Amino acid sequence: AIPASLRSLADYEARAPQHMTTQAWHHIREGAGREVTLRENRAAFDRIGLLPRAMAELDGDTRIDLFGRSHASPILLAPLAYMCLAHPEGELAAVRAAAALDTGMVVSTLASVSLEDIAAASRSLSQELGRPPAPLWFQLYLQPEREHSLQLLRRAEDAGYEAIVLTIDAGLKPAGIALPPGVDAVNLAGMPRPRQTSVPGGRILLGTPLTDAAPKWADLAWLRSATTLPILVKGLVLGDDARRTVDEGADGLIVSNHGGRVLDGLPSALDLLPAVAETVRDQVPLLLDGGVRQGTDVVKALALGARAVLVGRPQMHALAVAGMPGLAHVIHLLRTELEAAMAQLGCPRVDLLGPERLVALGA
Ligand code: FNR
Repeated sequence: AIPASLRSLADYEARAPQHMTTQAWHHIREGAGREVTLRENRAAFDRIGLLPRAMAELDGDTRIDLFGRSHASPILLAPLAYMCLAHPEGELAAVRAAAALDTGMVVSTLASVSLEDIAAASRSLSQELGRPPAPLWFQLYLQPEREHSLQLLRRAEDAGYEAIVLTIDAGLKPAGIALPPGVDAVNLAGMPRPRQTSVPGGRILLGTPLTDAAPKWADLAWLRSATTLPILVKGLVLGDDARRTVDEGADGLIVSNHGGRVLDGLPSALDLLPAVAETVRDQVPLLLDGGVRQGTDVVKALALGARAVLVGRPQMHALAVAGMPGLAHVIHLLRTELEAAMAQLGCPRVDLLGPERLVALGA
């Protein structure tokens, strides 16, 4: 049973450090550099206020369509590496929570459970519940060898993943985490891992194998030719890049600064969303992540042009504190808060949310 004291995502976050090692907690919490971007991701939501509308008809729901698939709500689980850092069942617990709540989940290349086992766990729970399977997407980190990226892609297709999320912003993160025993990127077994190595001539990063392995435009073209699944590009923040990505065949975009973990100084994903939406929202669905912690945040992102949002760290907090039921509870809390906010705004459907419902706070 979930303790009654857990009533918000903030409550889970506050408890989480007691349920994991200090090292895991820091790894999950931290942002790049001085964490300017990490703070902005939250601050941007808090700068925006909401304008209610009284006594509206409220017969509606939170459903959205993405790539021909109905989603129960515009809230998905973001890809996170090594979920076994938070809970021994890691991604299996997460996907069961997602399936129980009919929620989309994006599984990371760096998952600590095999992508086939994750898909099977999702399917068997949906079956048990007598429901169609919940949407599962696979997040691809390109591997130094295309052959290995292709292996991952085919495995994801064969296991029934319905879309590919190509993350383009994280290839250059120099330091990783020292993984505890039993936690590993099991899906990359037998594949060489790009690492920062010392290179003759005093090169540090640029021109080394690490930058060679980072995604380039040609890689997107290759991926487009390699799969018929919808491709979403994750890690875009500017309109020009977004337009080019769509021109090169992407089917969706995730406006994201990787939870403030890559380039410190990037504006929040929320602040950059309207410009990206202006450029490409009529062509492809836009998703956003970074700092989403309550239902009103979902409302704000949707009002500014996102079709859906993803939540990252709260998954780890929930798993650490209460395992699968904890994460199911967190998804339920977010949905309940979203519906409550929509009711206050007099808005029975998420596609009716627009910027006219927002106001700058303190102005
Ligand atoms: C991430 N993120 C991430 N993204 C990705 O594409 N592949 C990955 O393997 C990971 N791994 C990962 C691990 C941890 C511990 C964190 C915190 C983040 C980024 C993630 O998908 C998402 O963009 C952010 O977490 C969203 O921000 P919030 O919700 O954590 O504020």
